[in-house]
Amino acid sequence: MSGNGNSRVSSTESMDPKGSDERSIVNIADVRALGQEAAERLVAAKTQEALRFEAARWLGGDGRLRRLFERMKQIEPAERKAFGQAINGAKKAIEAAVAEAESRLRRDSLARELAVAPLDITLPGRCGAPGTFHPVLATGRELIELFRSLGFEAVSGPQVDTYGHNFTFLGFPKDHPATDMQDSFFVAGGGAGDARLLLRTHTSNVQVQEMHRREPPMAVVSAGAVFRRDDDITHSPMFYQLEGFHIAKGISFAHLRGTLTRFVQALFGADRAVRLRPSYFPFVEPGAELDISCPFCEPNRSCRVCKDSGWVEVLGCGMIHPNVFEPAGIDYERYSGFAFGLGVDRLAMLRYGVRDIRWLYANDPAFLSNFPAYVAGGA
Ligand code: PHE
Repeated sequence: MSGNGNSRVSSTESMDPKGSDERSIVNIADVRALGQEAAERLVAAKTQEALRFEAARWLGGDGRLRRLFERMKQIEPAERKAFGQAINGAKKAIEAAVAEAESRLRRDSLARELAVAPLDITLPGRCGAPGTFHPVLATGRELIELFRSLGFEAVSGPQVDTYGHNFTFLGFPKDHPATDMQDSFFVAGGGAGDARLLLRTHTSNVQVQEMHRREPPMAVVSAGAVFRRDDDITHSPMFYQLEGFHIAKGISFAHLRGTLTRFVQALFGADRAVRLRPSYFPFVEPGAELDISCPFCEPNRSCRVCKDSGWVEVLGCGMIHPNVFEPAGIDYERYSGFAFGLGVDRLAMLRYGVRDIRWLYANDPAFLSNFPAYVAGGA
């Protein structure tokens, strides 16, 4: 019993550990009971968070055990050692309880993880969008295949070519206004006169290149980019053409008509209306344009695509002019030939119902993913 009037009380003075806190605990039995109770609660912790929170309350720098140690000065000196040992005992019990609870919670969570349905590794993975050919490229390839099946040989030609190959050898008079009609992009510093370099305005340069290179008979197709200073809903400054020509003995306009009809029917079906309309190109005589009935027209509505004419132009064609044969060294008394040049973009638009040519070059994946994949050699 303390009778000295200060706050010291005997460690034998019992206090109820429940409902009290460490500030009122001054005896060893209570320390043990408190430690015991804490250990039991910790061992039973339901979650990692609860355990961590509870453990900090006991073991933390400002925790309850620390505050118990602070009670030491109120304990009779003779009992301090035993009191301290009791606190250390409680601390050990609490630490053991935390460790035990920790490993139990870890085991539990592992068991829970293992209990859920296992990962199904047979599920197909996510694969990237496989991609398709651009509608213009797909149409171009289909056309090439089609003409190959008719006996044409496919070649490639240069996109940058000379003024001579693009105009002069095709019979365009020097500075002919037709060179304005095809508004050219010239290459700066690219030569002069016929050697002047430009981005080809049509694929007809391939006719010149091939005629100068080989002997008839020949049947050739070539597709690729061409460039003109044009930009509206049916023209783009860069677009694609396919050129075809056939030079042999006895080739007539009937061969031209037959070949083109075959191509239109293969692409659009036998019911698509076709018309040949006289037209002028310096490198053919006679010359014509081939139109297809407009697939965009709707009753009682004006059509921006065909400008209400009901027809869409798809190609220019004709019988190759002697002026083109002559510089190539081809005897126009013995040989004749037809040639045609078509807009691949225009055909892709007609085929897939694309109303504005600029959509073809906007690179919008939502637009492009509407097109079926074209498989070379497929149906
Ligand atoms: N090269 C012409 C054009 O681009 C098309 C054409 C080719 C016309 C072959 C006749 C013969 O308009």
